[in-house]
Amino acid sequence: MKTETKASANAQVRKGEGVETLIKGGTVFTASDSFKADLLIRGEKIVELGERIEPAPAARVVDAKGLEVYPGGVDAHTHFELPFMGTVSADDFESGTIAAACGGTTTLIDFVIPSKGGSILEALEAWHKKAAGKAVIDYGFHMALVDFNDQIASDMVKVIRDGIPSFKCFMAYKGALMVDDAQLLEVLSVTKKHGGLLSVHAENGDMLSYLMKHLLEEGKTGPEFHPAAHPAVAEGESAHRAIALAKMAGATLFIVHLSCQESLKEVKAARCRGQLVLAETCPQYLLLDDSLYRKNGFEAAKWVMSPPLRDKSGMEKLWEGLRDGFLQSVATDHCSFRFKGQKDMGKEAFTKIPNGIPAVGDRVNLLYTYGVRKKRLSRSQFAAVTATNPAKIFGLYPQKGTIAVGSDADLVLFDPGKKGRISKENTHHRVDYSAFEGFELEGLPTLVMSRGKVVAKDDEFVGQKGRGKYIKRSQFDEGGWR
Ligand code: URP
Ligand code: ZN
Ligand code: ZN
Repeated sequence: MKTETKASANAQVRKGEGVETLIKGGTVFTASDSFKADLLIRGEKIVELGERIEPAPAARVVDAKGLEVYPGGVDAHTHFELPFMGTVSADDFESGTIAAACGGTTTLIDFVIPSKGGSILEALEAWHKKAAGKAVIDYGFHMALVDFNDQIASDMVKVIRDGIPSFKCFMAYKGALMVDDAQLLEVLSVTKKHGGLLSVHAENGDMLSYLMKHLLEEGKTGPEFHPAAHPAVAEGESAHRAIALAKMAGATLFIVHLSCQESLKEVKAARCRGQLVLAETCPQYLLLDDSLYRKNGFEAAKWVMSPPLRDKSGMEKLWEGLRDGFLQSVATDHCSFRFKGQKDMGKEAFTKIPNGIPAVGDRVNLLYTYGVRKKRLSRSQFAAVTATNPAKIFGLYPQKGTIAVGSDADLVLFDPGKKGRISKENTHHRVDYSAFEGFELEGLPTLVMSRGKVVAKDDEFVGQKGRGKYIKRSQFDEGGWR
């Protein structure tokens, strides 16, 4: 942002209308269009878009000349304050949403993960408690299912009706979160019948645990062996199986954190046969590769995540998958652990390194520089994969994920000329390293708005703890994806 002025020092609240903000002179990019427009915000909503809107006397005017205006980012995959692998992920709903806001994300969907045998409704309550009063941007929840029984089936229907239409099952993490094929089928039949959508973590947990056991027996205990325990063939097999199960159930399937050709090929084949399978990938699979596991000894633990980073040769294919529409969304799978005190729990065995990386604050910036500026994505594709598509898939649209009259005023103003560099020194993540250390950024958000309020300016958080609202989402609508 170049300048911000106030038409009146005391921006007044017009009776019943709320404060007006006029964003003037920017270029608006949505998933389908780009146009020069002024944008009028009243209270929390966009109320007018037009070539030339004159400010009311009390309006706050933001000069957006030379700036690009995008819908606020929607990160549909985070894990804040998650108890996992003997520890708890480091970012909570305060630090995680502050990092998100500074990096251009204005809505996120976090995963409720119940314990095995536990009630999903009780787990949901627990997640509401973690988020309320802390989140600085709006958020929703997906429900993970680590079990299946009649109680869960009826609670699934309750949560769908109450604004949580999306579920996740783990085909990996054997002995902890993993479900079997029969359970997957049961879940798919409920989602199909009641307007839900099932996501899967597609890695074959039996293959993984077999490999882990044998690698450890051979004394291969360091983090450099993590990718050997998570081969791409296990992701491809699992994607294939999940797609077959979804076909049999007649349900739509969403594959989270897709990392390799083996599973992308399965998604493409299904789509080409006319089966609706949707998928997301993550910045780490687009931009980092498995050579990181082979450098600097235990340092590799920083990138221990599941699925793991893959061979460099597949990365351009994932960008192509985004461009061609086989991958609809880029989410972070943000699940941060400090290197000292958390990742080092796995010093003796890589299988004990808590899985996950910090990324929620970096997603939009990385996609802008390495997608838009490197000409891998058009600006509209960037808006689509960072905001519009996840909003549509997960029932947030058109409240979130676009720039339109009536939508929430969730916006990111990008200065294409502003440069930066990702580093642990300037991260908002509550950890002691950055997974994308040294990545240069070309074009940065100068102003981020959530429901009409500025929450970040030039990477500085200026919002309010607890202002983030829980958003109930609509049921899955397959219209538009066929
Ligand atoms: O390594 C990862 N992905 N950690 C978070 C849990 C998950 O599987 O999504
Ligand atoms: Zn997962
Ligand atoms: Zn995840």
